[in-house]
Amino acid sequence: MKQRRILTGDRPTGRLHLGHYVGSIANRVKLQREYECAFIIADLHTLTTRPGKEEIGEIAENAREMVLDYLACGIDPGRSVIYLQSAVHETYELNLLFEMLVTVPRLQRLPSLKEMAKSADLTEMPFGLLGYPVLQSADILGPRAHLVPVGRDNESHVELTREIARRFNYLYGEVFPVPESLIGDVPTLVGTDGSGKMSKSLNNAILLSDEAKTVEKKVRGMYTDPNRVRADVPGRVEGNPVFIYHKTFNPNQAEVEDMADRYRKGRVGDVEVKEKLAAALNAFLEPIRERRAAAEARTGFVDEVIYEGTLKMREQQQVTLVAAKKAMGLTGVWNKISRKAEAARKKREKSA
Ligand code: TRP
Repeated sequence: MKQRRILTGDRPTGRLHLGHYVGSIANRVKLQREYECAFIIADLHTLTTRPGKEEIGEIAENAREMVLDYLACGIDPGRSVIYLQSAVHETYELNLLFEMLVTVPRLQRLPSLKEMAKSADLTEMPFGLLGYPVLQSADILGPRAHLVPVGRDNESHVELTREIARRFNYLYGEVFPVPESLIGDVPTLVGTDGSGKMSKSLNNAILLSDEAKTVEKKVRGMYTDPNRVRADVPGRVEGNPVFIYHKTFNPNQAEVEDMADRYRKGRVGDVEVKEKLAAALNAFLEPIRERRAAAEARTGFVDEVIYEGTLKMREQQQVTLVAAKKAMGLTGVWNKISRKAEAARKKREKSA
């Protein structure tokens, strides 16, 4: 049987943090052993809320930083394709063809788009943002992916992709596999401030590329149980971000259990718990930092990874686009016109 294909990816926002690691990157590293994986740097999607020239000027550097983190985490460019969406022209074309297969009310009902408009301070919905999930469908169906690992927030977009694939196949013939989403069951990682999910813009993130000293500082400033004014006051472990991180990243779970027990009884100070956490996080991050530094030291390496991946993806999508246009009969329209035109030109040239 032919290997199943996976497509997923991110908008290029720069360096990644621990939340990205547990939420998606760790899973991708595993999946690439079993599947043919492609990872999209979705810069066209960035344009839906950030179309300014200055913002576009930041994409290349943000993409490099993000891909360095991919590589540092163990995504292997020898196995998987990493590519730049805006450099694959076929995506734009497929996007337009798919726009004919979706209704506006269907898109207007998606809560994800309303949220994106809101957080970008847009009072009215841009046409391109309404089309965000249609463009995502082109990303997924272009390489004819079977599986799409995404978070809950993107589940509805994969559902729409399934509808588009089915509709296309029904109208024109079987061209696209109907893809399935692969929803991770890990809860989103809380930020260092304990208030919500980890996010660079909320300033509550520990970056995969943070130096050991920075990690120590960030951990020292972490939110814990606010009612615990002294080490001998019993503390809350549940929902406490320091313990959540310990459970997620500390390989010595016996130590964590013991600390949690003492914490509940008021027999351990926050300082000790945090020092142990910083040590555990730094032990976890050290090999990632090393791989990042090694990739960074190779001049042009990241750019080459993106370049080669993009060329490969173009080839794949060209095949799909030709198949789609053929199935639709669009290729035939041009063939009819061009054949007649060429014949007429030949005739004219002969008689001249
Ligand atoms: N929408 C994704 C995000 O939230 C990025 C993305 C674009 C994507 N195209 C994709 C994810 C295709 C999976 C498959 O940033």
